[in-house]
Amino acid sequence: VVVVGSANVDLVWHGPRLPDRGETVTDGTFAQVLGGKGANQAASASALGAAVVFVGCVGDDEHGALVRADLSARGIDCSSLTTTTDAATGVALIAVDEHGDNTIAVAPGANRHVSFDAQISADDVLLCSCEVNLDAVEAAVGVALACGATVVVNPAPARAVFAGTILTPNERECMQLGGVDALTAIAPAVVVTEGPRGATLHRAGRPPHRRPGYDVETVDTTGAGDAFNGALAWALVNGEPLERAVQLACAAGALATRALGARASLPKADEIYALVID
Ligand code: RIB
Repeated sequence: VVVVGSANVDLVWHGPRLPDRGETVTDGTFAQVLGGKGANQAASASALGAAVVFVGCVGDDEHGALVRADLSARGIDCSSLTTTTDAATGVALIAVDEHGDNTIAVAPGANRHVSFDAQISADDVLLCSCEVNLDAVEAAVGVALACGATVVVNPAPARAVFAGTILTPNERECMQLGGVDALTAIAPAVVVTEGPRGATLHRAGRPPHRRPGYDVETVDTTGAGDAFNGALAWALVNGEPLERAVQLACAAGALATRALGARASLPKADEIYALVID
């Protein structure tokens, strides 16, 4: 699995409820963890057993060193993770309430300096998200489609879509990008993630295929979509049909909400198979 995407340091506030505009809410706790949609997706696929290459960019700073050390320790190939002196490593400010819901504000920094420079072959799955400069995503998608690789683009945030790729927006992103009909007109498949309700696979001319979510004790939903996408790429690179891959990814997304922090409860493959019994 080749992942092109962002890597951030997440500054996480956990409190009773999210503040309203202009309001201060105290009684929270703080944690610094590692995040970024691309790095979370890479970590998810890697935890499930995929061989993962991560293409991204960090600043020449302490946060960048933390990001690189963490991804390397997970066994992820970081030879295409570059370091820039032109910007700081990305940072996300995340507030999480007692129900596990969140708001996220990102300063992308070095994530807007990614250059795509990696090998892709027909048996690979390319997984891209949109927190990085889009020319890098466009270059990666072009190379991958030309060699016949499967391409998944998670249009998060909803900045662009790429024809010929499997798109994985959440419901809000799907609406922002024109809706299911507009997306299935250019994409072979659109998988709309629906939080705890699961996900629906849409393909032009076929009935929607719905996969329900899985019940877990949710602590923090941050990164659930990333876990879903990483698991989808893992399942597809293992040759699973798209319907089954979506089912396995729904389980991964649910299991990833069990602890505070985007990567604190990424599942192993056996945990997914224990949940998905049919
Ligand atoms: O999807 C969750 C991620 O979004 C967080 O880890 C944060 O870094 C932002 O990129």
